[in-house]
Amino acid sequence: MALVTSNNYTNSALRTGDVDTYPERKVGEFIGTVVSNASVNDEYKHVVLKVHPQALKAYAGQMFHLLCPSPDGAEVWMRRPMSVYRVDRTNGQIEFLYKIEGRGTRGMALLEPGDDFNVAGPLGHGFTLDPSWKNIAVLGRGVGLATLAPLSQLAAENKVGVTAILSARNPGVVMSKKLFDELGARTMVVLDSDNSSAVENVEKILGDLIARRQADAFFTCGSNRLLKLMQRLGKKHAIPGQVAMEQIMVCGFGACYVCMRTFEVDGQKVLRRVCRDGPVFNMQEAVGW
Ligand code: FES
Repeated sequence: MALVTSNNYTNSALRTGDVDTYPERKVGEFIGTVVSNASVNDEYKHVVLKVHPQALKAYAGQMFHLLCPSPDGAEVWMRRPMSVYRVDRTNGQIEFLYKIEGRGTRGMALLEPGDDFNVAGPLGHGFTLDPSWKNIAVLGRGVGLATLAPLSQLAAENKVGVTAILSARNPGVVMSKKLFDELGARTMVVLDSDNSSAVENVEKILGDLIARRQADAFFTCGSNRLLKLMQRLGKKHAIPGQVAMEQIMVCGFGACYVCMRTFEVDGQKVLRRVCRDGPVFNMQEAVGW
């Protein structure tokens, strides 16, 4: 299928098999080949791309800036930032899990196996694990779970235990459970449909983890109320934490300042660029959204 893209590919974009004349590069523009682009449920799709080995340097919490095809023949002017869902170094693939919401993701949903897909990255600062942490607690909701999912890969590589609390409206839109399960995480699903996602219940689950010393650090994405809960418990029990912030972006690499958000550091309000200074930040410094 011929897809209309919003810009011409630049000459420097690397395809699989190209010799990289600048292997020290940390960020690049790549032309991936779509391996699959399948529906996960009514709202989400999962795209797998074969990419140049340089793109496989991405780690948990980092993102790519995607040149989405047009869904309707008109231009899609801006790239769309998206956190990487999985890096499959064995097969030379990166994966994204996305919700079909706007024109960019509607265009992305049209990609078929064999199509080119231009991605730039990896961008930003992702999640980090302190060597002293033995067990971490991950709490996410909605598409935020796609951002948190690669933490399971990072934790497995570092022999860190993971308890993942996956929050969703109903069982049909629980995201990333399979990936967490496959990588050995202990997963718990909490839902709006049976009220188990209520803050009081999630607080009880986290309280149990803290009591059993299963939460050396907190990680969250996708919900302001869950961020506030983890901030409160983290402060009370001196548990460090990281949050992946979501934000509208334009350039994606720190030049335009469109993605500024307010943080509170040592009692002072400071502005930071989510794309370059984050998207992962110290949980206690995030003001929320
Ligand atoms: Fe341009 Fe962040 S999107 S500075």
